[in-house]
Amino acid sequence: QHIGIIMDGNGRWATGKGLIRTSGHKAGANTVKNILNTCIKLNIPVLTVYAFSTENWKRPVSEVNFLMNLFSSFLAAQIDELCENNVRIKFIGRIDELPNNLVKEFHRAEDITKNNTGVKFNVAINYGGRDEIITAVKNIAQQVKDGSLLVENVDDKVFEDNLYTRNLPPVDLMIRTS
Ligand code: FPP
Repeated sequence: QHIGIIMDGNGRWATGKGLIRTSGHKAGANTVKNILNTCIKLNIPVLTVYAFSTENWKRPVSEVNFLMNLFSSFLAAQIDELCENNVRIKFIGRIDELPNNLVKEFHRAEDITKNNTGVKFNVAINYGGRDEIITAVKNIAQQVKDGSLLVENVDDKVFEDNLYTRNLPPVDLMIRTS
């Protein structure tokens, strides 16, 4: 129902071939395309790719910039095909902290594909697992503070409803590519 992919090992793959690290990220972006097309063929309802973690900001500025440009050019090159293939794209993570132009492009792509009913394609950028949990806990605490939720009613379902992946089946196959 839902495949998650942590896309790492690109740098090692490239240096192992005597190439610069960023060519590994470029090859990774091509692989994302192939995987998405395979999910479409196999009718996998949800694909989530973890592309940039909250820790990845510690990479050299030139590599971070390369990745931000790669996300932007990937989207520009793929948006028509996503629509043709009935794919709904969503960006998850602390998206609002990304460069303004990228945030706009992401929101635009989400908007254009929002009525598509095929594969749900989530791209996690500026994402952290603990960060997602902390964000959910803060939202829940706020609802309790506002009086719209009782502490004793906080359960599995409430927690789930406050995750980025709300309304989606849980990830049941996680692949870490490296
Ligand atoms: C981490 O591992 C990987 C990244 C920081 C980037 C992953 C991004 C892509 C594959 C770009 C394409 C994505 C989309 C959605 C277009 P690393 O490769 O730096 O790991 P290593 O240093 O351990 O080899």
